[in-house]
Amino acid sequence: MMASETRFILITGASNGIGKDSTHALVSASPNNHVIMGVRNMDKGQAVLKELQARNPQGTLSLVHLDVTNDDTISAAVKTIDSDFGRIDVLVNNAGVHFGLPASRENLRATFETNVFGPMLLTQSCESLLRKSKDPRVINVSSILGSINRRTDPSWLYYQVPADQYQMSKAALNMLSACQNFHYKDFGCKVWSFCPGFVVTDLTGAEDRQNRINRGAESSETSARGILEIVEGKRDGEVNQFVERYGKVSPW
Ligand SMILES: NC(=O)c1ccc[n+]([C@@H]2O[C@H](COP(=O)([O-])OP(=O)(O)OC[C@H]3O[C@@H](n4cnc5c(N)ncnc54)[C@H](OP(=O)(O)O)[C@@H]3O)[C@@H](O)[C@H]2O)c1
Repeated sequence: MMASETRFILITGASNGIGKDSTHALVSASPNNHVIMGVRNMDKGQAVLKELQARNPQGTLSLVHLDVTNDDTISAAVKTIDSDFGRIDVLVNNAGVHFGLPASRENLRATFETNVFGPMLLTQSCESLLRKSKDPRVINVSSILGSINRRTDPSWLYYQVPADQYQMSKAALNMLSACQNFHYKDFGCKVWSFCPGFVVTDLTGAEDRQNRINRGAESSETSARGILEIVEGKRDGEVNQFVERYGKVSPW
C-alpha cells in the first residue's frame, strides 16, 4: 500500500472491549487509517465514537449500524461502505458472545449466530469490496479456547475452563479462517485467526471483570496492539495461521 493511501478498516463490535480499544489503536496509529466502527447499538456507538474522537486521533472514524446476526444490517452496511469508500482493506471480525454452561438450544444458536455465522456471512458480503483493495486482510478474532489441540491437553493452563458452546464456536471460526484462506488466495487476501488473550472486558458480564483481574487477565489494549501489528504487516510471516499476541503462534 502506498504511504499516502487511506486504509479502510471495518471492525465489528467496535462499541466495547477489544473492539473499542482496537479502534482506538488503529485510528491513532496513522493519519491514513480510516476505521469504520460496526456497532449493533447506534446510541452506544455514537457515544464511543465521540469519546474516541475527543482523544484527537491522527486518523479518521465513521460509524455503521452492523448487527452480525442480522442480514439486513449486513447488506445495508456493505452498501453504505461501498458508496462512501468504495473498498475495504481490512475486515476485523471481532464481535463475539460467550454463554456459560449448561448449554441450551437457545444459547447454542445465539453463540453460533454471532461467533460463526456472522463472520462468515459478513465476510462473504464484503468480498467484492475486499477485492478492490491492493492489500486485503481479514482478521477473525478467535480464542485459544477454540483450539482442539489445547482442549485435549490436560497440562494446559485453561484445561479446567468449561466453556463448551464458546469453544465449539471458536473452533468453527478457526475452520472458517482456513476456508477463507483457500477461497481468497486468488486475490491475495491474507487471513488470520487471532487470539486476543485473556483480557479484562465485559465478555462474561461486567460483574465478572474483577474476577478476570484476580485471575491475571491483562488489559484489552494488549489485544488491540496485537490486531494493529497484523494490520501493519508485522505478522505477514504467519499468514494463514492461528496467531496470538506477543509474536506467538497457537496450534489449531
Ligand atoms: N476478553 C477475552 O478475554 C477474550 C479472549 C479470547 C477471545 N475474545 C474474543 O474477543 C472478541 C471481543 O470480545 P470482548 O472481550 O471485547 O467482549 P465485550 O466487551 O463483550 O465486547 C463484545 C463486542 O461485540 C459486540 N457484539 C456482540 N454481539 C454482536 C452482534 N450480534 N453484532 C454486532 N456486535 C455484537 C458487543 O456490542 P455491545 O457493545 O452492543 O454489547 C461488543 O461491542 C470476541 O470475539 C471474543 O470472543 C475475548
